[in-house]
Amino acid sequence: MIILGIESSCDETAVGIVRDGHELLANAVFSSMDLHVQYGGVVPEIAARSHIESIIPVIKEGLAEAKLDWPDIDGIAVTYGAGLGGSLLVGVMTARTLAITKNKPLYAINHVEGHVYSNFLTSTSLPGYVLPTTAPVFPCLALIVSGGHSQLVLFRNHFDYTLLGQTQDDAIGEAFDKVAKILGLPYPGGPSVGKKALEGNPTAFTLPKAKMPGKYDFSFSGVKTAVLRHAQAAIGRDFTFPSKDLAAALNEPQKADIAAVFQRIAVETVVDKTIQAFEEFSPASVVIAGGVAASPELRKQLKERLPIEITYTDPKLCTDNGAMIATLGCFKAMNNQLTADPYSLDIQPNLSM
Ligand code: KG4
Ligand code: ZN
Repeated sequence: MIILGIESSCDETAVGIVRDGHELLANAVFSSMDLHVQYGGVVPEIAARSHIESIIPVIKEGLAEAKLDWPDIDGIAVTYGAGLGGSLLVGVMTARTLAITKNKPLYAINHVEGHVYSNFLTSTSLPGYVLPTTAPVFPCLALIVSGGHSQLVLFRNHFDYTLLGQTQDDAIGEAFDKVAKILGLPYPGGPSVGKKALEGNPTAFTLPKAKMPGKYDFSFSGVKTAVLRHAQAAIGRDFTFPSKDLAAALNEPQKADIAAVFQRIAVETVVDKTIQAFEEFSPASVVIAGGVAASPELRKQLKERLPIEITYTDPKLCTDNGAMIATLGCFKAMNNQLTADPYSLDIQPNLSM
């Protein structure tokens, strides 16, 4: 079973090809990130335009990387939500057209569910990937942490899962991106805050962790505001000082300490609830997924606090990619899940788990 997966929900135009839900054959990704850096975040219109330009070349690149052609492909999987409307449309319309013209079954994939499936990739002959050697065992607790999502999900089996909790406002990645902006660090904020944090003291001061009514819910808007207030106080100014002028007013050691403390607290927030869920549900495995799963700090804290070994996928498969979409597509195909109608599949920008 060989599935080609198309992902275009945000700023990555990505195509992955996967065999039998475990073997990575191709992972072609073009990111329009460089076009968004000057704005400090993804500009939806620019992302959509970039997808239009790059989708066909990236599909060709994926097929070439896998050394395959259309007759070898058994089906097409595509992200239909959640994500940016204009961006999703490009992937979905392309996948629909290819499903019709190449006569392939079409699988509609939930982007967030797709992220979890990067953990099922256990073999590849492609250079430069470090993959776990075994697939997650059910029941599996998944911590999904990205620029758009922060969720804890308990998978009892494929397609049988419960959303335990999620962010009620900003996603953790979004908080990293906003703190990076305050500190004058480049977008995306996860890697740039992480790098700056290496020079700082993570216990120089502390920041509040939000207390939520839902046991496994998160909130990250408060900690972001707390960073803003701390930065204003650090330069001896009050809350009226404009956040856009803070980066120039803070010195480098101040920025490094803020980055280190914020990173520690933000990561602790998701790790605290992961440990709590682990204790309540005793899963057989724990996986992390989404762009923030690439964070060395998250990997370190989980390793220190979880009583079981956790295997991590390659960081290149944590950020948005087509391989995770193809992997979930394989499991759908292998389990005779419903196919999507290539004449009518619509995008769902607000799709939830
Ligand atoms: O999964 P992803 O590529 O896109 C979404 O579906 O949102 O996640 C992007 C997010 C960004 O907020 C970025 O700052 C964060 O993932 N990120 C990281 C790292 N790499 C990307 N956060 C922490 N550490 C990283 N190394
Ligand atoms: Zn994502």
